[in-house]
Amino acid sequence: MIIDSHAHYDDEAFEEDRDNLLQSMQSNGIEKIINVGANIKGSRASIALSEQYPFIYAAVGVHPSDTEELNEEKMAWLKEVSKKEKVVAIGEIGLDYYWPEPDREIQKKWFIRQMELAQEVNLPVIIHSRDAAQDTVEILKQFPANGVIHCYSYSKEMAQEYIKMGFYIGVGGVVTFKNAKKLKEVVENIPLTSIVLETDCPYMAPEPNRGKRNNSAYIRYVAEKIAELKGITYEEVVEQTEKNARDMYRL
Ligand code: NI
Repeated sequence: MIIDSHAHYDDEAFEEDRDNLLQSMQSNGIEKIINVGANIKGSRASIALSEQYPFIYAAVGVHPSDTEELNEEKMAWLKEVSKKEKVVAIGEIGLDYYWPEPDREIQKKWFIRQMELAQEVNLPVIIHSRDAAQDTVEILKQFPANGVIHCYSYSKEMAQEYIKMGFYIGVGGVVTFKNAKKLKEVVENIPLTSIVLETDCPYMAPEPNRGKRNNSAYIRYVAEKIAELKGITYEEVVEQTEKNARDMYRL
């Protein structure tokens, strides 16, 4: 069965039919879902979902684009809730230089603080890194952390560097896009033992649903594409990536 290692079911895109959709997941072959917080509100909602549904787990953290809301009081709250039984990771955290705001120094400061938190509470990290490959590596090197580089968008050489540091590579809908030559090369070049499947839903829907609202049932298109690229079976992809996600989140 499939583990969706990264989803955002707290998003308002699921307001109308969240419960129906989530109730249908297990009949669609989805075993577990990690709902990832992108800010304090989303972290709180992720915990609530993990308490409501036995197959949902939570990650808590603040995305680089939302770091201006952080302060020591909110860091203390994150630390407190990270001890809950179904909180399995700190994330998503990292650096996003695609957008000019917040200032890079602010992003770096809170990325480092949240890496310290992960180390303190002994949880894996979910890293969001966009147009910031080098700074991300330099900060990660300061911590003996493991986790996942989510929605991986860099080169195959950089992927090897992250894998050497103990990270998994998160692969989602982008791998099915016609123009995703770079990510396809990454998937061909790294071992299956380093890949975890993710939706990042409601975003990043794979072909043939590109542009629509994504959900965990569509993750099979990602697994099919990885099988095709690596010349192995769909079942092998599902089995190994499930093991990878279990090992990473200690499920
Ligand atoms: Ni995300």
